[in-house]
Amino acid sequence: MKKHICLLEGDGIGPEIIAQGVAAVSEAAARCGHELTFEKAIIGGAAVNAAGEPLPARTVEKCRQADAVFLGAVGGPEWDAVSPDKRPEKGLLGIRKALGLYANLRPALLMPELAGACLLKPETAAAGIDLVVVRELTGDIYFGEPRGISTRGGMRAGVNTMVYTEEEIRRIARTAFELARLRRRRVCSVDKSNVLETSRLWREVVIEEHRNYGDVELSHLYVDNAAMQLVRAPSQFDVILTGNLFGDILSDEAAAVTGSLGMLPSASVGVSGPGLFEPVHGSAPDIAGQDKANPLAAILSGAMLLRLGLGMPEAADLVEKAARAALAKGYRTADIMETGKSLLGCAAMGQKIVENIRGAC
Ligand code: IPM
Ligand code: MG
Repeated sequence: MKKHICLLEGDGIGPEIIAQGVAAVSEAAARCGHELTFEKAIIGGAAVNAAGEPLPARTVEKCRQADAVFLGAVGGPEWDAVSPDKRPEKGLLGIRKALGLYANLRPALLMPELAGACLLKPETAAAGIDLVVVRELTGDIYFGEPRGISTRGGMRAGVNTMVYTEEEIRRIARTAFELARLRRRRVCSVDKSNVLETSRLWREVVIEEHRNYGDVELSHLYVDNAAMQLVRAPSQFDVILTGNLFGDILSDEAAAVTGSLGMLPSASVGVSGPGLFEPVHGSAPDIAGQDKANPLAAILSGAMLLRLGLGMPEAADLVEKAARAALAKGYRTADIMETGKSLLGCAAMGQKIVENIRGAC
């Protein structure tokens, strides 16, 4: 197969981790007889600096023309003072919306090799963590109107609107149930229906849609309880279905309990058109340009890109196996370092994974 990928490196550690992601996916695809071409486009703070806006129209166009989009990270303190509509994060939210990427899949897996880096008690970690957060990505308080800061009764007031339509809930619920069928057939829907009307509708629609998935077990948790259960007993979860805001928060939490935010990949997909694949972590400006970042989340996002974005499951397997092998051989970046292991920088870790992919065939 011949496929074209649009690269959005973004800010901070974005360019360095994407370089390693590209090296791994290129090697794996080539090993499996596929040809990949890449083209860069600007987004986030880098685009604000170069073009005065976080998501230039040309970037959206290049993404639409690609078979998949591979993104690093956006944002950093450099752009803290820019006006809200020019913040780098607007670029990321904008491209998700422009490509209709309503379903964000964030797997959190505790690899046995990294059990020692897990923040939980050994007996909790021993029960394992293998869950996927299915986060709705184009609705909720992230996009609801009205929004803004205005004056009310002589003082400033900030307003955002949490809103979900029935159809938005229904399609993401379907995504979660379908995914559960490929896994352990359990969906836990997370909401705040004891307080919020949006969540009451969420729960109603999820229950309605569940009627089409009698073979999948459905449970419900309030988001505060879910946050607690994720640290108390994460092994109970298979698929966590939730909205945009709760999913943002819970996916960072799920990532952190597995050991490092630097390990977790994500895929964002829509009804049709290219998907977007990006690590869950941010731009880490404090370590940018120092070759210290963990490229594994980007490399594993590359594996998701190959599997879900391009339909190249063998190449995806190669990348995932190579990443596991590097960890099994004791290679670590600083964020997951333990005594007795070998500390590597971002590029050297990427290189080890490429070497493992070569060795695997
Ligand atoms: C994420 C990030 C983004 C989000 C930010 C950077 C806009 O935290 O992908 O989880 O809130 O969705
Ligand atoms: Mg987040």
